[in-house]
Amino acid sequence: MNGKKIKSILESNTTGQIYSVQGWVRTFRANRFIALNDGSTIENLQCIVDFEKLDESVLKQITTGAALRLIGKLLVSKGIGQSVELEVSNLIILGSSDPKQYPIQPKKHSLEFLREKAHLRVRTTTFSAVMRIRSVLSFAVHQFFKEEGFFYVNTPIITGNDAEGAGEMFRVSTLNPNNPPLNKEGKLDYKKDFFGKETKLTVSGQLEAEAYALALGDVYTFGPTFRAENSNTTRHLAEFWMIEPEMAFYDLNDNMNLAEKFITYVLKNVLSSCEKDLKFLDERFAKEESAKPQHQRSEMGLLEKIQFVVNNDFKRITYTEAIAILKDSKPNKKKKFQYAVSEWGIDLQSEHERFLVEKYFNCPVILYDYPANIKAFYMRRNDDGKTVRAMDILFPGIGEIVGGSQREERLEVLEQRIKEMDIDAKELWWYLDLRKFGSVPHSGFGLGFERLVQFTTGMGNIRDVIPFPRTPQNAAF
Ligand code: 4AD
Ligand code: MG
Repeated sequence: MNGKKIKSILESNTTGQIYSVQGWVRTFRANRFIALNDGSTIENLQCIVDFEKLDESVLKQITTGAALRLIGKLLVSKGIGQSVELEVSNLIILGSSDPKQYPIQPKKHSLEFLREKAHLRVRTTTFSAVMRIRSVLSFAVHQFFKEEGFFYVNTPIITGNDAEGAGEMFRVSTLNPNNPPLNKEGKLDYKKDFFGKETKLTVSGQLEAEAYALALGDVYTFGPTFRAENSNTTRHLAEFWMIEPEMAFYDLNDNMNLAEKFITYVLKNVLSSCEKDLKFLDERFAKEESAKPQHQRSEMGLLEKIQFVVNNDFKRITYTEAIAILKDSKPNKKKKFQYAVSEWGIDLQSEHERFLVEKYFNCPVILYDYPANIKAFYMRRNDDGKTVRAMDILFPGIGEIVGGSQREERLEVLEQRIKEMDIDAKELWWYLDLRKFGSVPHSGFGLGFERLVQFTTGMGNIRDVIPFPRTPQNAAF
């Protein structure tokens, strides 16, 4: 390491000092000005170099994308657009970059183009801002739970059970795919596999987190989760990060309160510590929106949306109330929904969720007490026999951002649900044990981290808020 971060130089405002800086050329112009960025901040440091005094061989290498070390004196800027600039006395090329081949040019590239260059796209202003915010959000998550007295637990990534009962998992195996061992029935002999059983990449750390909550009290996991669903949407990834708190002695109401407090906390944190990146993304969002047809435009700006969520309570309604609203809604009566809302018990589609959040209530909504049939086996049954203590949090522009529930703590009820849903109870023996030894009411939820980053940065596609996205037919990089 040799040099000072541009962020700290710009914040210090210590003109007259000599600094050494290192970074990558964003732009250069008029044979004098180099805009240098080192990733520490969205701002470039304007560096003044007399190109005429440079050797031809050095000059050739000052191109967009090249890595330089510059030493010089910090001065009050004579130009507009920046308060200080570096008057360079010494320039060293650390790594040149062939301008004919370097794909990131100082012009607007489409997000689709940049997705193909995922290893370089973080050098753009937009992606570096998104990824800095992602990092700050992630840190704020840990900070929130630490302040609330939670313990961070690391749940396994390789698992034998399907926590969500959705059956869309990636297999983990070391068997030879060209010549797999078969058992007497002619099926794959998993006894010969690495773990001696069939294993998958986990869809959720919840079940193991429950075991830990029933000893440590309040815990959370924050790790990668995997879903092999073939959904090519702007909100689904095959590999994504989930934050899953699990709390002993919490009922559904306590759970909803915590989720709301948590989301508000992390958003506030970003508002106060990512001002410059957010300002840039706010302007970017406004430009993107203005290019859309009027009826598709967001009514609020990005910053406005974040502030709105921070300053307003989430609306809480039951699934049954939501169905009544939807049944009675204009788009339903005019047959504008692709999936008509006709009867109680249907699974809500994203068009229904968006109507509730963006048109009807115009704020984040917590839907709770869903029909048992459309929810996972572990959710606590209500006395009506039909619904479970589930809750989903729906966000404007995003849809579902959180899914959670109070857990079924009664052994017999849980066993019955497992039977009704035709789930293999063998793998769940240890989970059932938790209901035999000191079982207590408990609750938890999962927040999709990329959906939170999407909301905070205003990026329309989830592929643009994770460094190297995994989606169907795409695992490059
Ligand atoms: O609603 P889900 O499936 O809930 C669970 O997995 C529970 N075990 C959580 C818990 O109670 N501990 O997923 C939780 C959240 C969703 O609300 C969504 O934000 C996100 O995870 N999510 C996805 N994000 C990106 N890509 C996908 N394919 C996602 N699937 C779910
Ligand atoms: Mg869900």
